[in-house]
Amino acid sequence: MQLGVNVDHVATLRQARGTSYPDPVEAARIAVAGGADQITVHLREDRRHIQDVDVRRIREELNVPLNLEMAATPWMRRFAEEIQPQECCIVPEKREELTTEGGLNAAADVPKLGELCRALVPRGIAVSLFIDPEPEQIDAGMQIGAPIVELHTGRYAEADDPAMAERELEAIRQAVNRARHGGLQVNAGHGLNYENVQPVAALPGITCLNIGHAIIARSVTDGMAVAVSEMKRLMQCRPA
Ligand code: PXP
Repeated sequence: MQLGVNVDHVATLRQARGTSYPDPVEAARIAVAGGADQITVHLREDRRHIQDVDVRRIREELNVPLNLEMAATPWMRRFAEEIQPQECCIVPEKREELTTEGGLNAAADVPKLGELCRALVPRGIAVSLFIDPEPEQIDAGMQIGAPIVELHTGRYAEADDPAMAERELEAIRQAVNRARHGGLQVNAGHGLNYENVQPVAALPGITCLNIGHAIIARSVTDGMAVAVSEMKRLMQCRPA
């Protein structure tokens, strides 16, 4: 199973101060050195974290596949056609949300999503639909002609108790099987962290997990001692 590392929140930190650092492209390079199989970014309409130039640089400077998450808008379609990411994950997008809250209602949008797939797939861009693990959404994915579905694992990740988590895991397992029988590649992600990833990673049939928040958060705490000791070292030695 592959790991796609979402570096959006490195850009969130940069945008919060309007500095040039931390650089999400540099973070992506380090993620690849650590074993990331692909880099995922979400270019949101409000540009709250990742910027257009970040996407261009990741596509040009890194030698692993780029998975571009985007809303199904005409502007994003043109941008994807120009950038040519290896994968495009179509997500619902609401301005007021903190993060992508639920999957696409693919079943309600078959003609529009079908048109987007017909535009991008012949250009060699593997289109993925971010959907909840529900039979009607999987079936809509097949009807739409997307080669990939990414199953939203948020309900599993946010389950209040082990029994609910087990029920949500079972929904994901059944969704994986349905999609695989229909010939689709299956990815999954959202809310996965160091405590809850293993049962999902153990499900057969999933190609790639896309994980962001937990990895970026862990990087901050794991890197803190090094960052502080380097600052102390600089404070203690006189400039040349
Ligand atoms: N997959 C998709 C489609 C997403 O929108 C996100 C969040 O940007 C993720 C995976 C990663 O979620 P998280 O940051 O919770 O790991």
